[in-house]
Amino acid sequence: MKKKNLSAIVAVNKLNYIGLHGTLPWYSKEDLKFFKRITLGKNLIVGSVTYKKLPPLPGRNVYVLGKEYLDFDSIIRMINNSEEEFFVIGGKKTYELFLPFINIFYISRINDYTVGDTTFNLEEKIETLGINTVENNFFIN
Ligand SMILES: NC(=O)c1ccc[n+]([C@@H]2O[C@H](COP(=O)([O-])OP(=O)(O)OC[C@H]3O[C@@H](n4cnc5c(N)ncnc54)[C@H](OP(=O)(O)O)[C@@H]3O)[C@@H](O)[C@H]2O)c1
Repeated sequence: MKKKNLSAIVAVNKLNYIGLHGTLPWYSKEDLKFFKRITLGKNLIVGSVTYKKLPPLPGRNVYVLGKEYLDFDSIIRMINNSEEEFFVIGGKKTYELFLPFINIFYISRINDYTVGDTTFNLEEKIETLGINTVENNFFIN
C-alpha cells in the first residue's frame, strides 16, 4: 500500500499538540527552516482547514484536500501516476487519511508546552504500519 514517493511532515510539542485555532501553537524559526528545506521543490498535500491559514509556500506545488478542492481518490491517482515526490503536510484528518500510503514520516519535536486544540495521536499506528520516521528536536524562539 505504501507509496515510495509519499512522505509526511509534522511538528509536535511536548504535550502532543500540533494545532491551535487552525494554526501552529508555537513559533519555531528552526522548525520552519527545516520545513522549507525538506519541502522545497516538492508537491504538498494539505487539508482545507490547514490551507485556510497557511502562508504562501513559494517553490512548492500545493494540492488541497476538501469538498471545494480535490478529493482523496484523485490525489492518490495523481501520486500513483507521478515519479515526483509528494508530502502530506497536515492537518490531523489529512495525516490520518493518507497514513497507510506514507513511506517516511518526518517528526519535529518542539520544546514547547502550549495547550492546543489538535493532538497528534498516530505514533502507535505509525509503528504498526512499519512507517519509517525521521525525528528532529527544535526549540521555540
Ligand atoms: N504541527 C504541524 O505540523 C501541523 C501541520 C498541519 C496542520 N496542523 C494543524 O492541524 C490543525 C488542522 O487539522 P484538521 O484535522 O482540523 O484539518 P485538516 O486535515 O487540515 O483539514 C481537514 C479537511 O480536509 C478535508 N477532508 C478530510 N477528509 C477528507 C476526505 N476523505 N475527502 C475529502 N476531503 C476530506 C475536509 O475539508 P472540507 O471540509 O473542505 O471538505 C476537512 O474539513 C490546525 O490547527 C493546523 O494548524 C499542524
